Amino acid sequence: MESIKLSTGEEFPLEMHKVRIVQKIELKPIDRRFAAMQEAGNNTFLLRNRDIFLDMLSDSGVNAMSDRQMAAMMVADDSYAGGESFFRLESVLQRVFKMKYFLPAHQGRACEHLLSRVLVKPGSIVPMNVHFTTTKAHIGLQGGTVLEIPADEAFNIASKEPFKGNIDIDKLKKAFAEHGKNIPFVRIEAGGNLLGGQPVSLANIKETSALCKKNGVPLMIDASLLQDNLYFIKVREAACKDKTVLEICNEVAACADIIYFSARKLGSARGGGICLNNDALYEQLKPLVPLFEGFLTYGGMSVKEIEAIAVGIEESMDMDMISQGPSFIRFMVDELVKAGVPVVTPAGGLGCHLDAKAFLPHVKQAEFQAASLAAALFIISGVRGMERGTVSEERNPDGSEHFSAIELVRLALPRRVFTMSQVKFVTDRVIWLFKNKDLVGGLKWRKEPNILRFFFGELDAVGGWQEKLVKKFKQDFGTGL
Ligand code: F0G
Repeated sequence: MESIKLSTGEEFPLEMHKVRIVQKIELKPIDRRFAAMQEAGNNTFLLRNRDIFLDMLSDSGVNAMSDRQMAAMMVADDSYAGGESFFRLESVLQRVFKMKYFLPAHQGRACEHLLSRVLVKPGSIVPMNVHFTTTKAHIGLQGGTVLEIPADEAFNIASKEPFKGNIDIDKLKKAFAEHGKNIPFVRIEAGGNLLGGQPVSLANIKETSALCKKNGVPLMIDASLLQDNLYFIKVREAACKDKTVLEICNEVAACADIIYFSARKLGSARGGGICLNNDALYEQLKPLVPLFEGFLTYGGMSVKEIEAIAVGIEESMDMDMISQGPSFIRFMVDELVKAGVPVVTPAGGLGCHLDAKAFLPHVKQAEFQAASLAAALFIISGVRGMERGTVSEERNPDGSEHFSAIELVRLALPRRVFTMSQVKFVTDRVIWLFKNKDLVGGLKWRKEPNILRFFFGELDAVGGWQEKLVKKFKQDFGTGL
């Protein structure tokens, strides 16, 4: 439920589910958290789960599953070919997307691999509202280039614009005029992950679709974060407020020629798939599935996951289910804004995004504000976030640092995983850190890999700021927790 009002006037989102299976977690004392962060080279990817209290790294593959999903896993059909599990998922997808064909793949990036292989050639230009790391890599591998054309508002961190994920229609017109035949497809990511989970409006998707049709170019929708985006369309787009989630989903899908998704997000399980109508394209993609993924009726997924995805996607048509993530995120964003903490607004899907540049203005960008903030937050709370700034970029060809336009720390809220008291805990610790921000300093490379440095790189604190932060925390909280 979006929110409930207490007799005291306090309002907060109320969980429309009860917890039936739990996993124990531990809040280790600050000395251990500090030691763990050192061992991990101040890179939250290198932490071990045993040292983490609340894991807010990602929502990928870690959403809570429902009792109905777990039950469905017990009746999975594990035939190598022709398994019924596939047909159950296919029929759910046909109901929500109304497309003729479904090709399974083991996760979202596998769909991007297959689609790029068939559609992208050297010299191809692919316009999109925003790239995702794996999308850009796969298009690049085939010799294509991403042309990112979000509306200008997308990079305005503190904004009230409800659909910061929209593509800029004028820039898309210009792209068609300039690159014409070199555009194999237009891609809309609904919603925009690297923009802070910001949604795209149905009106913008419709306009993009009309423009694509006029130019004879297919529109591809990355539906990995569609669940949150459907929620935002319903609550923020006046024309859609009386439509059901399924109706909105059908309308979004009707605009697309190709839809693909990471079921590690959409469907709250682990897998992926491509839906489409075009016979010729289907015939081109079809042989690649057994070649790279697995036979056509499992595509590299476990059949248990296929069953869970089918139920998960069906359940995504329910407002109680899809409002949980965004309303918890909004609660957290609102509380942080009230305390003056710089965060991406309006609240989006996926998680709450801290603006590290504004949070740590005294730290140089060359000393990695977002990575420093993520390390500091883990030390003082046991909460693991993800750096989305300069460390996540690659160096320029001349070896100089490529500074990211925005420096964010993502605190993902996997759907239905965390309770309100845990969200209050994180919020409180972020506010404490903000009040003590002057104690946070920068980082420098200890070990910098050439590729995917944000996954494997290790950094050291510049000066002894982390020890001072630990000392202040102990003064304020006594127990070290
Ligand atoms: N598209 C979007 C919008 C995504 O957010 C992701 C993954 C993918 C494609 C790739 O899907 O992981 O199943 O291969 N996002 C994850 C994240 C990794 O943490 O945000 P995948």
